[in-house]
Amino acid sequence: MLVDEIVDAHVLVIGSGGAGMRAAIEASRYGSVILASKTIAGKGGCTTMAEGGFNAVLRDQDSVVTHREDTLSGGAYLNDPALVDVLVSEAPDRLRDLVRWGAVFDVTDDREVAQRPFGGQRFPRTCYAGDRTGHEIVMTLLDGLDATDTQIYNEVTVIDLVRDENGAVAGAIALDRDGGVVLFRSDATVLATGGGTQIYDVSTNSAAGTGDGFAMAYRAGAELIDMEMIQFHPTGAVYPYDARGRLVTEAVRGEGGILLNAQQERFMKRYDPERMELSTRDVVARSIATEVLEGRGTRHGGVYLDVTHLPAERIETRLPVMLEQFLAFGVDIRKEPMEVAPTAHHIMGGLRITPECRTTIPGLFACGEVTGGVHGANRLGGNALADTQVFGKRAGEFAGKSPERKGRIDEAWVEGELRLLDDFFEGVMSPAAVRKDLKLTMWNQAGIFRNSMDLATALTHVRRLSDRRLFAASTANIPECCTVRNMCTTASLIVRCALLRPENRGAHVRRDPETTTWDPEKSPFGHTYISLVREGIEQREVTA
Ligand code: FUM
Repeated sequence: MLVDEIVDAHVLVIGSGGAGMRAAIEASRYGSVILASKTIAGKGGCTTMAEGGFNAVLRDQDSVVTHREDTLSGGAYLNDPALVDVLVSEAPDRLRDLVRWGAVFDVTDDREVAQRPFGGQRFPRTCYAGDRTGHEIVMTLLDGLDATDTQIYNEVTVIDLVRDENGAVAGAIALDRDGGVVLFRSDATVLATGGGTQIYDVSTNSAAGTGDGFAMAYRAGAELIDMEMIQFHPTGAVYPYDARGRLVTEAVRGEGGILLNAQQERFMKRYDPERMELSTRDVVARSIATEVLEGRGTRHGGVYLDVTHLPAERIETRLPVMLEQFLAFGVDIRKEPMEVAPTAHHIMGGLRITPECRTTIPGLFACGEVTGGVHGANRLGGNALADTQVFGKRAGEFAGKSPERKGRIDEAWVEGELRLLDDFFEGVMSPAAVRKDLKLTMWNQAGIFRNSMDLATALTHVRRLSDRRLFAASTANIPECCTVRNMCTTASLIVRCALLRPENRGAHVRRDPETTTWDPEKSPFGHTYISLVREGIEQREVTA
């Protein structure tokens, strides 16, 4: 294949979820911007599906110190404290930006932005728009984007980042929706490709959540951290089968919903008697999984989530999407409980970044779920939307302030990429078959509970799948081949990092007899890290 079109811009933003759009809006203050979106901008990422809310300190009774501490303790202190400082101190202003730009959040009687409790937080600091908060934010950002000169490329498949002769990221190579090859050249590139829990059989992610950014950044030489940290949201739909994994927002528990096992026991009292249903997500997900594994689950393999004790009017106004969603499944949540079980939701690891959103390779910035370090070993519900806006703005700003790139594009790299695309026409294996196999492998062997044997088996299998020569019958099939290749790479990064961490911490739980449980005083381990040139786990000095 040959390059059909070359497009130049000061900043290239890859990804059009909340972080990508916020980055593009900010970067456009400094020069020309291209936004490359795998779907129709704003419609495909996970932001639009985020239901429950946006954490920000807005009231005198709350403080950024408390938000910081909640985020760190929720993340089992694996978070990068400098990134957490930025998150908690800038979240209120980023929320106010959205309100100023027209986002309609729910308000109190005195017209202040309303806040609800979410798990693991000592103050109800989650701002919301019913249970369609992400959608409200996306609509607002789309309007904001419209007011800039950002050039949006919808439905393009970014194949890989490209580098210049000095090794700096210099843009990306992509296939447009007609199969034409586009070379985007930029002074700075922002990766805002979101997460990738579509690599699991049961996931809340949109179809676009296939881990492309992790894989592309890895191939380009960036370092990633803590990829083993996968958040399983405690409450995903269990049936009907086609709806398995669909998000049942934490707001249901925030509004007073309770969890019951098949014996009608409020089982959270055994796992976290103090915080009960509003414990952190890692704890609630493991508790539900344990109830099911030990035979106290429902017929469909979940537990009950019950709001029937709440006034119907509250359900109708605060949880309208849940009400509608379950009515479509034949369940009226005002009168009967929902059935829920954990579902792969968020990748907490990702590109190592600085507070300016610089990655380990020059020219490449990153923001949102594709980055690591903000959420540590477990993310608090409501911190992801805040993350998209805080770090989206920063990535756009610092990418926008980048100087003009001096180096020439590495032509050999581009030619190599194009040859790889041609290879798909000679392939033999259906990408759909590899995708299905991969998702089951990850769900069964690298899920909530792990052990070294399963992880090693998973790694061997993922490597085998990665070696399969994927087949594209025509150019129209190449995006799926690229996606499945990225899914295999992301899965392998997760499993390799899971094997590197010999302790139970946050969302990472290994059931090997020799596994230690993280102890803030005694654990010598920091981030796991992985790149083309090195992988390992950071060690820290333990004084206790
Ligand atoms: O449960 C939810 O509404 C999801 C929120 C989040 O992941 O932050």
